[in-house]
This record gives sequence, structure tokens and C-alpha cells, in this order.
Amino acid sequence: MTIAVQDLSFSYDKKTPVLEEIEFRIENGQFIGVFGPNGGGKTTLLMLLLGLLNPTKGKLIAQGRIGYVPQVRRFDRQFPISVLEVVLQGCLADYRGWGNFSAEAKKRAFEALEKVGLADKARAPFGTLSGGQIQRTLIARALASNPEILLLDEATVGIDPEALSEIFKFLISLKGELTVLMVTHELQVIGREMDQLFCIDRTLTLYSPEQICQHFALGLYHPKLMQGKKND
Ligand SMILES: Nc1ncnc2c1ncn2[C@@H]1O[C@H](COP(=O)(O)OP(=O)(O)OP(=O)(O)O)[C@@H](O)[C@H]1O
Ligand SMILES: [Mg+2]
Repeated sequence: MTIAVQDLSFSYDKKTPVLEEIEFRIENGQFIGVFGPNGGGKTTLLMLLLGLLNPTKGKLIAQGRIGYVPQVRRFDRQFPISVLEVVLQGCLADYRGWGNFSAEAKKRAFEALEKVGLADKARAPFGTLSGGQIQRTLIARALASNPEILLLDEATVGIDPEALSEIFKFLISLKGELTVLMVTHELQVIGREMDQLFCIDRTLTLYSPEQICQHFALGLYHPKLMQGKKND
């Protein structure tokens, strides 16, 4: 087991619960999909797993080094930093000061850029990248930190289909090796590859890939899936 959450509740203001009675277990090397409506509490759950927020109630155990790919809404394009430097932020443990990273760290950063198909952009200013390339750089940064658990928060938004299928293939290849928890709306593409699917809408409803695929086969989408949950 890498992650276990028991009877977890959380609220920002001690009044309105954002997450309630959440329970789940994630085994080592599992690939988990997280979906649900806007404001359902997905990002909040990741913040709790990262230890950036504390449960209001309940228990949470996350064992292992965590790599995190944040949900990006906007950022400062003027900030003078190269793609490689962004990825090297994932190697801060190897930082030697004065802008120097160990050769090992630089190698890891390059390898991570190769994995997301951006090795040729290593020297480009980060601010000149497209939205999808920015997301891929942030995935590389998380990978460069050599994580045991990888958390991705809508990290594939804006990535074109070709690069997307490469990244998905790569994430699938990590199965059994790295524990991956990914917030995504691309369940139709990748849902069947996942070991468990969490629908987060204040509470958690667990789905199997088969259930998700059935819904798609019937031409239904998230709202129906969540209605189904409420009628259960
Ligand atoms: N820092 C904060 N302070 C107070 N309330 C917050 C804070 N962050 C989020 N919330 C509230 O908590 C609820 C859950 O937000 P959260 O960002 O976790 O949802 P989400 O599922 O990630 O949504 P989205 O799909 O839009 O990313 C929302 O009602 C939101 O307004
Ligand atoms: Mg979110």
C-alpha cells in the first residue's frame, strides 16, 4: 500500500465541507483516475495528499516521494527561465547553489524532457512555449524529481492529440512501477487503463474501468454518471 485515506473530511472555513468521509486505498504501482465536476474537491484532495493541507477529520497516509504536476490556469510568460531550468526545479535536492546542478541532475532533467518529447526545447525560454508544451514541461519537472508517487492535476489540458497519446502511453508504461493519481477528463481515452476511478463530488464514488466504459458505450457522460451515483 502506498496511500490510505480513512474517514477523511476537509473544509477550508471549518463550516462548509469540501470533502466528506473519503475512504480509499491505493496499492503500490496502481494507476488511478480522478474525475468529477468543477469545485468537487479534486485539487483539494491532491493538496491533502501532498501534505499542503491537513484533514479536518480522519486519517491520511501517503508513503513515498511525491512528484506533483499542478493545474495551471495562468502564469507569467515574462519570467526569464529556460525549459531545462524549469525541469531542474524537480531536482532541487541536487542543487549546489549559484545555479549549479550536479551532472546527474542535469541528465535526469534531460531524460525527463525526452520522455515528454521536448528534448529539443531544453534551451528555449519557458515563456515561448505553447500551452501544451508548458504542461509537458511541468510533467517532466515532476518526473525529474524521481518520484514514487506521481500526482497530476488536469495536466494534459491543451495538449494536442499526438503528444497526448505519447504521454498516456508513457504513463501507462509506469504501471506497476510508479503510483500515479491523475485528475483527468480524458476517461474515454485512458479510463480502461486505470485500476480504480474516483469520482469526487464532496464525497467519493468508486468506479471500475468497466463501469466507465459501459457509460461511454451507452453515450452517457459525467453528469449521468453522477446522477446514477445519487440514485444508487
Ligand atoms: N484556498 C481555498 N479557500 C477556500 N475555498 C477554496 C479554496 N480552494 C478551493 N476552495 C473551494 O473548495 C471547493 C473545491 O475546490 P477544488 O479546487 O478542490 O475543486 P476541483 O474539483 O479541483 O475543481 P476544478 O475542476 O474546477 O479544478 C470549491 O468550492 C472551491 O471554491
Ligand atoms: Mg482542480
